Amino acid sequence: GNSNINAKLVLLGDMGAGKSSLVLRFVKGQFLEFQESTIGAAFFSQTLALSDATVKLEIWDTAGQERYHSLAPMYYRGASAAIIAYDITNTESFERAKKWVDELQKQGNPNMVTALAGNKADLEENRKVAAEEAKAYAEVNGLFFMETSAKTAVNVNDIFYEIARRLPRA
Ligand code: GTP
Ligand code: MG
Repeated sequence: GNSNINAKLVLLGDMGAGKSSLVLRFVKGQFLEFQESTIGAAFFSQTLALSDATVKLEIWDTAGQERYHSLAPMYYRGASAAIIAYDITNTESFERAKKWVDELQKQGNPNMVTALAGNKADLEENRKVAAEEAKAYAEVNGLFFMETSAKTAVNVNDIFYEIARRLPRA
C-alpha cells in the first residue's frame, strides 16, 4: 500500500551558494535577486505526493556563514536527507561543499540520502566548476548530482523529488 513518510532534510553549503533560494523556489515558486543571508537557520515544510508514498519534507535551511558552522550538527543530526549546494561560478564554494560531504560522512546518519547541487546553472558564462568534475566527485562519494538554478527553476523540483524517491519506504 501507500506509505506516509516524514523526513528531515537539511541544506548545507557556503554562504551565497543559493540554499535559501532553492527552498524558496521549491516551496513558494519565487526567486529574489536580493535574497538576504540566512541567520541561524530557517524552517519550511512541503508535502510531496509520489506514486507509492506521501512524503512530508521538514526542511532546515542552514546559514552558510562560517560563524554559524557550530550550529550545523543540530540540523543534520537525525536528518534522513541532505542537499549540499555550491555555486558553479565559485570554486571556493565547491571546496566548501566537499568539506560538508566529509563532515556528514563522519558525523551524519550513515543512510542519509545526499544530493550535491551545482546551483546558479543559469550563469554558464561565468562557470568555474566543470559539471564533469562535480559529477565524478559525487559518484565516488555516493551522492547524486544535479545542476540547478533557483533563478530559472531548472532541476529544482527534480532534486527534491529525487530525494523523496530515494528515501527508504516505511
Ligand atoms: P546564506 O544564507 O548566507 O548561507 O546564503 P544562501 O546559500 O542561502 O544563498 P541565497 O539563497 O541567499 O542566494 C545568494 C544570492 O545568490 C542571492 O542574491 C540570490 O538571488 C542569488 N542566487 C541564488 N540562486 C541563484 C541562481 O540559481 N542563479 C542566480 N543567477 N542567482 C542566484
Ligand atoms: Mg540562506
